Amino acid sequence: MSILGGIKKLGIAALLFCAVLPCSGQQLELMPWPAHIVRQQGSLALDGTPRIELTGGDERVHRALKRFILQLSVQTGVPFDRSFGKPPQGPLFVIQCSGPGLKVQALGEDESYHLSVRQSGIKLTAPSPLGIMYGLQTLLQLVQASPSGWVIPDVEIDDAPRLPWRGLMIDVCRHFVPLPVLERNIDGMAAVKLNVLHLHLSDDQGFRIQSRKYPRLTEYASDGLYYTQTQIRQLIAYAGDRGIRVVPEFDLPGHAVSWLVTYPQLSSGPAPAGLIRSEHDTLRPPLDPTNPQTYKIINQVFGEMEELFPDAYFHIGGDEVDPKYWNHDPKIQAWMRAHNISNAHDLQTYFTLRVQKIVAQHGKHMEGWDEILDGKLPKDSLIQSWRGSDSLANSARLGYKTVLSAGYYLDLMHSAADHYAVDPLGGPSASLTPAEQANIIGGEACEWTEYATPEILDNRLWPRLGAIAERLWSPATVTDVDSMYSRLAVLNRNLQWLGLQQQISTRTMLGRIAGDDMPISLLVTLAQAVEPVKDYNRETTQVYNAEQPLNRLVDAIPPESSLAREVNALAKRALLDPSARPDLREWFTRWSKNDAQIEPYLPNSILRVRLIPLSQQLAALGNLGLAALDDIQTGHPIAPEKKQKELDMLKSIAAPQAEMFIVVTPSVRCLIEAQPVP
Ligand code: ACM
Repeated sequence: MSILGGIKKLGIAALLFCAVLPCSGQQLELMPWPAHIVRQQGSLALDGTPRIELTGGDERVHRALKRFILQLSVQTGVPFDRSFGKPPQGPLFVIQCSGPGLKVQALGEDESYHLSVRQSGIKLTAPSPLGIMYGLQTLLQLVQASPSGWVIPDVEIDDAPRLPWRGLMIDVCRHFVPLPVLERNIDGMAAVKLNVLHLHLSDDQGFRIQSRKYPRLTEYASDGLYYTQTQIRQLIAYAGDRGIRVVPEFDLPGHAVSWLVTYPQLSSGPAPAGLIRSEHDTLRPPLDPTNPQTYKIINQVFGEMEELFPDAYFHIGGDEVDPKYWNHDPKIQAWMRAHNISNAHDLQTYFTLRVQKIVAQHGKHMEGWDEILDGKLPKDSLIQSWRGSDSLANSARLGYKTVLSAGYYLDLMHSAADHYAVDPLGGPSASLTPAEQANIIGGEACEWTEYATPEILDNRLWPRLGAIAERLWSPATVTDVDSMYSRLAVLNRNLQWLGLQQQISTRTMLGRIAGDDMPISLLVTLAQAVEPVKDYNRETTQVYNAEQPLNRLVDAIPPESSLAREVNALAKRALLDPSARPDLREWFTRWSKNDAQIEPYLPNSILRVRLIPLSQQLAALGNLGLAALDDIQTGHPIAPEKKQKELDMLKSIAAPQAEMFIVVTPSVRCLIEAQPVP
């Protein structure tokens, strides 16, 4: 989607980097920003496949190098891959890896690297293959076009992550995510140095992985949509090759309808007849923690899964257990009395401790959502904090390792800036002792897929995930939001070279909505001015339903409108700088006129009919903006009643329609608010 000319990116980011770099005139488009970087004068001309001299490392490094060369050729359009393996030309690229790395990648493995680029060549050194892989990603981000060809600016980079657990959780239950979709997103994760893919594999909506011991789990509870064990091995190898650990989650004792559909005897009270397909299906009992059969089956399934997944951590869920099923079941209540357990939390802790023993028997550390937190857990348990950063600080204070997800829920449609502002070591964690803070090992973005199909997934993850990756990798002092957005835009473009679909999916879906009969540009004007409603507000007008097609404008647009950010900033500038006003007027005019042009097309497609009020609201905003610009121009005071009426109108213009709302209202509000009253 193109935007009108005249809106230029500010040079703030470039100015910022002058503090740490000699001014070069061109910003480095690195994300995440390295721990230490010094830019030197000059650059290395990339006029042939680098002559690579590799010492140390393992097979992963060889494969990473091969991908690096292929990626370089995709990125530059130069067919470097053809000469790969032939007598080498071009600059010297020395890679020294001091060790082979651990056989199974582990939390806390050394991820540092040193990268030096000079006119004479490149040197990349690292203690482990992980550092070499990260260094190669940095190098790809450094490649720039120059008038004489592709160049890499001379730099000296000493880099290592601030936090060792940098993850992404994907819920593959509410909408199944096929392997190629996961793989391309793993490529994206590797590009921004994330290192944990957490797969949410079982929930009320499905059991998404083959069990050889209990094949009925997928037979009864997957609709045929699940990963075979062969596919999972392939996925783990694919991720491992890119420095990414795969942590499986089997959510228990709540979110367990898929287990109960298969084994109703494990239910606390009557078992549901089928999988949860809609938010209206409310019978969702947890497993019965007082039934010995429960632990027998968990032991068998977990044993099998713990063999399949090599990672040291195994996630048992533990979130959102509805206590009413335990509190109202006479058999469970009697058992609790007999065992001196007085409430649902303590019963869940009893369950968690038994499951932890099963997990530990197979040699793993247990991970769970923050509801499992209880001082009785063994100290090697890992707590994933999702209900707020207080539980992160509490876990750390109690001596448990912990990762932050509160503030990183991508499905809630917040801006990259909102996520960027959330620091695991900020907020309540800032007042912990250094020893307690050391328990905070990172963060994990989460994507719950009630409203995300494979067609939409990339658009829900990217590019915002890049901002979270930077928060977890880069020094805490890297906080400039304008710089982040400027580099995020470059990342967003570059991710397409890896096959990520976030921009293509918007174009494809807008094309489907426009169909053959309407000019797509009219739809684009509307699409750029709106965002999906935030938090859990979509549920108020459209509850989750597994069968519902997700093919409307709300599904097609990115969670964050880059145009809104630009136009809202343009309006602020226009207040002080009259030369910015013609561009702003052009936008207001476009919005004002769009409704009359699009109106004939909206009623005649199911995909468009609910857009009618939204389009009218955008036209009203355009008209209000044009009037406000006229008033600013004349400089005359306006009556307080008129000002109040206009501000009230703005509120109704911003009211949600079709699960979206207009996000360019600040461009008009700032003009109205600035108007003098007599
Ligand atoms: C969660 O969002 N229920 C972990």
